[in-house]
Parts: sequence; C-alpha cells; structure tokens
Amino acid sequence: MTEERKSARQHCELHGGNIYRLAESLGIDENEIIDFSASINPLGVPESVISEIKDNFKYLYNYPDPDSKQLQLWIAKHLAIDSQSIICGNGSTELIYLIARALKPGKVLIPAPTFSEYERACRTTSYELRVKSYELKKENNFDIDPEEFISAMKGNGNSELRTLNSELTCEMAFLCNPNNPTGRLLEKEGVLKIANAAKRLKCYLIVDEAFIDFSPDESVMTTVRHNPYLIVLRSLTKFYALSGLRIGYGVFPLNIIETIKRHKEPWTVNTLAQAAGIAAFKDIEYKRKTFMLIKQEKDFLEKEFKRLKINYVPSEANYYLLRLNAKKIMPALRDKGILVRDCSNFAGLDGSYIRIAVKSREDNMQLLKELSNFSTNCHPEFISGSQKMLKQACPEEILNQVQNDTFRVQHDKTGRI
Ligand SMILES: Cc1ncc(COP(=O)(O)O)c(C=O)c1O
Repeated sequence: MTEERKSARQHCELHGGNIYRLAESLGIDENEIIDFSASINPLGVPESVISEIKDNFKYLYNYPDPDSKQLQLWIAKHLAIDSQSIICGNGSTELIYLIARALKPGKVLIPAPTFSEYERACRTTSYELRVKSYELKKENNFDIDPEEFISAMKGNGNSELRTLNSELTCEMAFLCNPNNPTGRLLEKEGVLKIANAAKRLKCYLIVDEAFIDFSPDESVMTTVRHNPYLIVLRSLTKFYALSGLRIGYGVFPLNIIETIKRHKEPWTVNTLAQAAGIAAFKDIEYKRKTFMLIKQEKDFLEKEFKRLKINYVPSEANYYLLRLNAKKIMPALRDKGILVRDCSNFAGLDGSYIRIAVKSREDNMQLLKELSNFSTNCHPEFISGSQKMLKQACPEEILNQVQNDTFRVQHDKTGRI
C-alpha cells in the first residue's frame, strides 16, 4: 500500500484496537478480552480516584467548571507552570483537534510512523492540507534525528510524500515523545534544539508527551513560557488508567491561548474527571507501584523476547513495537480473545509489525505463550502450558514478588485486571 493510500485510510479508521467489536464477534463480554492494543496501566484505576469519584457524584447536577480551575491550579502549582497557560481537555485527543481547528495549519510535518490522530485532526480543518512526512528509519530503531527533523520543518528532507510545495516551511510540526508506536524517546536536549528551530521558523511545534511519565526529566513542558511556538500535551488516560473517563491537558504559549480557547467547546471535561485528575496526581504510592511494576514487566518481556528471538524495538514507554507478521498473528490471537495493535496502517510501517502494551505478569505470559507459536526458535517447553512457563520464565524471587501485595493488581469479576 502506498503511503498516500495508507494516509487516506487512516482518516476513516480509529487507531486503537476495538475491544467492543472483538467481543461482539467472539460472542463474549468485553471484560474477557485481554487488550494489548491500548497501553493502559495494568494496575487499573487508582483506589484514591475511585473514592474521589464517588464523593463527587453529589455535584453532578451542576455543569462542570468549563475552565477546570481546580485541576488547572493543581497542575500549575506542582509542575511549576503558569496556570493561565494550561487548558484541560477530554483526553489529549480533544486538544489535538482543538489546536488544528484554532491554528489551521496549511502545511504540517508529521513523522512516520507516529500517532495517526495528528494527521486526522489537521485534515478535518482543510481539504488542501499539505502533509510532509519525515520517514523514520528502521535501521536506526525509528529514532528521530533533530537535524533531519529541522530540515524537514524547513521543507527539505527524506520525505516520500514530497509535494509540489515541499520547499515551503511547515506551519506546524508534531513530535510524539516517546513516539507511538515505537516507544523511542528523544532526549530533552534534542527536543529543545527542534523547539528553538521551530521558534526561528515560526512553525508551531506540538510535543505530545502522552507517554513521558516514565522519563519525566525529558519533558519540555516548563520551557513553553520561553517559546511562543511550543505547545506541550499530556494525558492522564494511560498512566492513571482513566481512558474511559477522559482527561488530558496542554501547556500553551500565552500569546495564542485566547485563540485556542475561542475554538474550544465548553464543558468537555466533566465534574468527575476534574476531581479524578487531582486525586490521581496526589497518589504518589500509585505512581511508585506503577514504576516498579512496569520496570519489572519490561525486564521480563525483554528477556523473553530475546529468548524467543522476537525482534523488538527498545522502548522508553509501556509498550513495544514487535517485528512479527501481523496478518498471521492477529487472527490467531483474536481467536484466543487477545487484542494487539496491527501496525500495518501506520504510515511508515508495513504488515510486519504489531504493538503490544506492557500488562500484568499473567497477561504478559499469556501473550508470550501465543507468540511463541510464531517464533521459529522457541524453546519447546515454553509452549507447553502457562503454569510450567511461569516457573520456567520467572526466577523464584520475581514469582514471590508478583504474588505479594506490592504487585497485586485490581481484578474484575472475571478474575482479570
Ligand atoms: C501518542 C498519543 N497521544 C495522545 C493520545 C490520546 O490520548 P487521550 O486522548 O486518551 O488522552 C494517544 C492515545 O492513544 C496517544 O497514543
């Protein structure tokens, strides 16, 4: 499929897996699906957040605060940002579409592969949008090279989607850091280099930090105040498992904040989401447990990928891009109620990649067991039953850890998290 066609296909498809559709086709409840396609914290919604939500039921008769003032103040105080520069949204997706609607870029730079909503959002604002694609190279683990990115912003570069106007400077550029679906992180120094160039070129740089919680020191959020062309987006839906509630925020330069607000629909962040956001930020223990769990599971998965000779892209986030034949694997996994992200409709990727989230040990082992059927070099004992695999794959001390309280995860009525 050509990049152009892929790009067109992205407009009518949503990016993530659809657990509802799969559950319907298998005739099972969506809770029975093991969803590796969305990279959501396996610890589930923090207890503190659940209790805060319950406490706020009584306020549902009022409209929510359209400015999410309390949440905005909390973010400003704890992240050392001017509260006037923050806009909260119904997930960061709302803000991506809002930015496109308010700033109406004529030409945008979008790396490939990356999160498909950037292009989708920009296309909704203009039929004549020119998209310049900066192709990330698999030989370099899909890393972003700041110099190449800057060159592409200027209209030059390695784009396969060269347009007649490719020499024109872009008016907007998206930088997903860490990138989805690769998990690759560009260090702060590199991002700031790009941000400074964006300022000189008068090109809005949208840095999407939806998955930066695992590398907080690399965030450029506090530098927005020095750069009228830098916007930083954050999400609470993955790290705090609030995907169904929807909450995210953006930090904007003060010179454009009124323009952005003029295009925003009111009341998109509901009362429960605003309260949940503050409670989530306050829950330091949940954060600590998440770091421990994700690190432990990433170590485990990487060890198993190596053993099974599964080719993976080293990741700084809570998901992995795996080089595996999506067409062959997806149907087999679906039959088992396992959903992974087929990456064939990402511009810049083909059918030889899937993306998987880092989940609980139990779920990770279930996935590895299924993937091992597709790995030519798999240890025969690995595929002979999950109990046996558990013993074989986990050193004793990790097994004990998984079973103790630190790593206990929330289970629903089906026994899964
Ligand atoms: C890179 C990236 N940014 C933003 C989002 C949107 O997140 P939300 O709207 O749930 O905050 C996603 C969702 O998958 C994503 O992968």
